[in-house]
Amino acid sequence: MTTNASSAPVRMGVAGLGRLGKRHAMNLAYRVPGAVLAAACSPLDEERAWARETLPAPRLYADYEAMLDDRELDAVWLVTPSSLHAEQIVAALRSGKHVFCEKPLSLDVAECERVLALSREYPHLQATIGFMRRFDPSYRDAYEQAAAGAIGRPFMIRSQTTDKNDPDGFFVRFAPTSGGIFLDCTVHDIDVARWFFGNARATRVYATGTIALHEGLRACGDVDNGVAVVEFEGGRLAVFYASRTMAHGCDTQSEVIGTAGALAIGHNPRANRVEIYDAGGVRNACTPTFFDRFEEAFLREAQAFVEAIAVRQAGRADTQDAGATLADALEATRIGHAMREALASGVPVTL
Ligand code: NAI
Repeated sequence: MTTNASSAPVRMGVAGLGRLGKRHAMNLAYRVPGAVLAAACSPLDEERAWARETLPAPRLYADYEAMLDDRELDAVWLVTPSSLHAEQIVAALRSGKHVFCEKPLSLDVAECERVLALSREYPHLQATIGFMRRFDPSYRDAYEQAAAGAIGRPFMIRSQTTDKNDPDGFFVRFAPTSGGIFLDCTVHDIDVARWFFGNARATRVYATGTIALHEGLRACGDVDNGVAVVEFEGGRLAVFYASRTMAHGCDTQSEVIGTAGALAIGHNPRANRVEIYDAGGVRNACTPTFFDRFEEAFLREAQAFVEAIAVRQAGRADTQDAGATLADALEATRIGHAMREALASGVPVTL
């Protein structure tokens, strides 16, 4: 962080105060130097009441358009349902505001393309999609080592996103609007692979899956365990696994294999540094949810976004790594969509 303490704070408005939005709002309000959380928006009374009680006096809006009319805001931070992202990003740019949006940009490839095309009319505005693994300290360290040549030429990535089984079936209810397991979960691993492979183009996608526990997914063509293989240009390969049925917790891990070594990221998804030694052996608790695993990454992505805006506002020339662009997010959706198609048809999809 190199935020210039003398520059004006970046005035932020957060939209969406649900499961993840509340966490982002707390970060923006209390943990991001150079940012002021000046407004919050939710259509739900109880979420605005939470904001009134918990956040440092933001202006509260029930309607997103009304928040965009707030001339005292520099940027909006979207943590709204995925189906709204594309139109809300477009509206933010049209109102002259920088925009951060949670992943995915859209579940629809053509819609992603439309947003990307429109964003080109606003090159002075920052637009970032929340692939927070790029800001996780371990992923970042591995990326820097790979970029410095520590493992030779990376040609293979194995990456997984697996969630703890939820017997209440939250995600079965969420499945019809989620885009399916690949667009909801594997989209993060896709972004990791593209990042490590220097934005190499994906050329072919294979996918399959099974329902291990949650029969309710069958009606919408989804699975609770999915596997995909993606070929990238230059002979690079990626193998992805996504699951909703892990017994032990949220187990996100990746491995980058190169011609002179490999980097393993997060292979033991440990909740903390305590090990239990007993008659059962040696073990540790696992991160229960994605937020426990990526708390630091969510904070750092917010800091990087605000820093990128501060750099633009100060007219400084230094380039900022603000995370995934709209173009990155379009490619992630394109590949995730191909996985979904390959899963449904049983036939590889050429991109
Ligand atoms: P949620 O359903 O708990 O929250 C959605 C929020 O949006 C609610 O506060 C709702 O009141 C609000 N909302 C609905 N319509 C709105 C509108 N027109 N204007 C403003 N607010 C509106 O959903 P959750 O789980 O918090 O997910 C939100 C987004 O975050 C999704 O796009 C999801 O894909 C993404 N996400 C990303 C994760 C990651 O790993 N980066 C993990 C979990 C979610």
